[in-house]
Amino acid sequence: MNKKISVIGAGNVGATTAQRLFEKSYSEVALIDIAEGLAEGKALDILQSGPVLGLDNYISGSTNYEITKNSDVIVITSGIARKPGMSRDDLLKINMNIVSEVTKKSLDQSPDALVIVVTNPLDAMAMQAFKVSEKKPNKIFGMAGVLDSARFTTFISQSENTSVNSISSNVLGGHGDTMVPLLNNSFIGGKSLTESIEPNKLDKLVERTQNGGAEIVNYLKTGSAFYAPSASIVKMVDAVCADAKTVLPTTAYLQGEYGINDLYFGVPAKLGKNGIEEIIEYELSDSEQADLIKSAEAVRETVKAMENLS
Ligand code: NAI
Ligand code: 2OP
Repeated sequence: MNKKISVIGAGNVGATTAQRLFEKSYSEVALIDIAEGLAEGKALDILQSGPVLGLDNYISGSTNYEITKNSDVIVITSGIARKPGMSRDDLLKINMNIVSEVTKKSLDQSPDALVIVVTNPLDAMAMQAFKVSEKKPNKIFGMAGVLDSARFTTFISQSENTSVNSISSNVLGGHGDTMVPLLNNSFIGGKSLTESIEPNKLDKLVERTQNGGAEIVNYLKTGSAFYAPSASIVKMVDAVCADAKTVLPTTAYLQGEYGINDLYFGVPAKLGKNGIEEIIEYELSDSEQADLIKSAEAVRETVKAMENLS
């Protein structure tokens, strides 16, 4: 596709995203990292897979944002993981500063680009990127719900021995353990989950989804998930670049939708060339709506902590 995508952060998520975008024939991919040589080396390695795969498109890496000039989409994955002895607030402050810096530097080169935020804590980082971007909120949003819904679908598929293609699941809310996997608005073979799966079994699938990120960290020990996250990012990039009008769970700026104001939060949104073109409001059960409000309160706490640190 004749589009230029810049990926900021050439760690596990960023580099895998860049590889997937290159292999999907995006005409140009630019990879940036603060670590000298990291983005250059990974991009050159990916570029050299071109002759093997029969691809003539281009990828480059640098510490210098000039290579990102005139991007259509910017994906922000730069950040640091929590290290021993570091508090949540320490991490929040460091990633907040990183996200502010890279958002400004990227938009200096590509003022019209759409921005997809991935760095954790996701909802707060999307809010921070929005604040420093001076962009309209439809142009800046976060990836989490596509990943969380993919995890929910995977677990339903395994439990019910049904193709992932016959399952459509929706996980809304903040990207954390208060996320809300929807039961009446998720379907297996066209029937809602509440009609299809007995409550105890369903509770276990919901709990495993809410702990989906931690389950991977427990296996990897030194890092977090990146294969499913990068696939999820590319699904959102595809939707906006193809102007596909695809409805995907998206971390969007809410202004009253679902009873939530002035907060980035996971909701279904139609994605097209203008970014978020519509926020879709599902009819929720009373308990789902209550869970969503509880999740929003948890996100708001993190946003407040971030504001107090700045
Ligand atoms: P990683 O540690 O492998 O990569 C992060 C990269 O950011 C490093 O290469 C680092 O050098 C770079 N970086 C740090 N400061 C920078 C700066 N100022 N400018 C440019 N680059 C900078 O981490 P990984 O696994 O790639 O994860 C990246 C982020 O994505 C983390 O915050 C992680 O928690 C988050 N994440 C979010 C998901 C979601 O669903 N929203 C899913 C998976 C990861
Ligand atoms: C995940 O859910 C770490 O947010 C990341 O895997």
